[in-house]
Amino acid sequence: MPNAMAENPLDGGFAASVRRRSSFAVRFWACWGLAVVCLGPLCGCAPEDGDVVRASEVSRYLGDAAFRRQALEASLVNPQNTYARLRLESYTEDGWGRLPLWNPRSTPVLELNAEPPSPEALGPGMALLPDDAGPQALLALGEQAFFRYPMQPGDYWRGALEGVQSAQRYGLWSDESWGVGGLMWVALPDGSVETAATCATCHAAPVDGQVVAGLGNPLLDVGALTAHWYGQLDSPSRAWGPGRLDVTGDGVENPVTIADLRGSRSQQHLHRTATLHNDLVALAIRIETLLITSHGQALRPPRQVAMGLALYLYQGMEPEPVRAPDELSRQGRLIFERLCVGCHSGPGGAGPAVPVEAVGGDAAVALSPARATGYWRVPSLRGVAQRGRLFADGQTEGLSALFEARGDGEQAHPFGLELDNGERLALIAYLETF
Ligand code: HEC
Ligand code: HEC
Repeated sequence: MPNAMAENPLDGGFAASVRRRSSFAVRFWACWGLAVVCLGPLCGCAPEDGDVVRASEVSRYLGDAAFRRQALEASLVNPQNTYARLRLESYTEDGWGRLPLWNPRSTPVLELNAEPPSPEALGPGMALLPDDAGPQALLALGEQAFFRYPMQPGDYWRGALEGVQSAQRYGLWSDESWGVGGLMWVALPDGSVETAATCATCHAAPVDGQVVAGLGNPLLDVGALTAHWYGQLDSPSRAWGPGRLDVTGDGVENPVTIADLRGSRSQQHLHRTATLHNDLVALAIRIETLLITSHGQALRPPRQVAMGLALYLYQGMEPEPVRAPDELSRQGRLIFERLCVGCHSGPGGAGPAVPVEAVGGDAAVALSPARATGYWRVPSLRGVAQRGRLFADGQTEGLSALFEARGDGEQAHPFGLELDNGERLALIAYLETF
């Protein structure tokens, strides 16, 4: 059961290639095209019920400010936390809607220890589409943006580019076509050129020598990197450890595992703390507002990029199970149905959020003034066998450690502990089929 903890392809040179899963998306949108012409099973490619609705959601998100506002309000689980309050205050046409667009010239970082290129040497920004572009074209734009849209400029990324050792120490992956760690050189408004992260810097990781898009990077150590770069040796961020980040700015030290975005479609909520109800439009707004806050609320992304990314997460990166169902996994399934399905009840093993007390876990994350709702979301288990780090605190390294106590003697997940070894192996085999 290889998972993303195992390796860093920088060890073996710059050789990994990205495993891309667009076949599902192509099939899906081919059916969507047909659905417009003839809505029915006679077409030989029966559309899912939601497909046509989804296409109209895409165009309303792009063109209808009142629709976006309504979708934002409907997505917030707890309107009192600071995440919700900031958005309720600012996500209006007169607020963040007036910010200038951010689509700068940029080019991928292809080498370690290189000087910044001159602004003229950078490539163009994202190639935006005509207003009537369909969801299929937006999804393709989103896939590009995932690896190429410079979402978070910061000089500290250079600290990870000083040489092979630094790249390994701070957990950058490398790939022939996508470059080093998904990092970009980007032109800033003041005319300088700086490094910037893309979604793929955090949300992609190598498994078996191939970079898997969507998987949280369990080796990326942004806390140690920023402490090193700014010479802050007593910074609390040094304790975050790899694969975790404090994303909230709520004044509390509460780093959280970098999310696995594959199977986003099966998540019933977004964020560990179930901050948002999840659907395609809520996801696009979540991404749009993330990009605004990560630029200090001074710039906003083209909405096509936000929706393209949402479509890519929703439709374009479903993982393939690492195991086909067999006798052992069928035994495990029975155990899962007895002990786990009460919470992991929906498609992909996700389920409705549960009160924090029902599960326990990292209290600092659960109680974050920025994001808390009083609930943990019950996460999708799609692709769980490849995840390097599990649970909000990321202290459990892969499924094989699921039933082991952590350093503090507590169990990460207080379920299935009474099972004997054989039953545990069967249960893990079943989880490998998700
Ligand atoms: C610097 C690292 C970093 C970068 C870059 C980053 N993210 Fe994340 N992302 C995180 C972390 C950490 C979480 C977990 C937050 C939580 O669970 O509360 C997260 C969570 C998410 C979630 C919620 C997923 C879920 O299941 O709850 C989405 C969606 C997401 N990111 C999309 C993106 C997109 C799209 C981009 C690029 C535009 C991006 N992220 C860039 C670190 C990052
Ligand atoms: C009372 C509800 C509940 C029950 C019962 C339950 N879970 Fe969970 N499970 C959760 C919640 C909530 C989380 C997320 C906790 C967190 O984010 O730290 C979770 C997380 C997980 C994860 C980690 C996923 C990840 O990426 O972090 C795995 C694996 C898992 N559960 C498997 C199981 C198995 C196997 C069983 C049965 C033996 C089970 N769960 C029973 C609620 C439950």
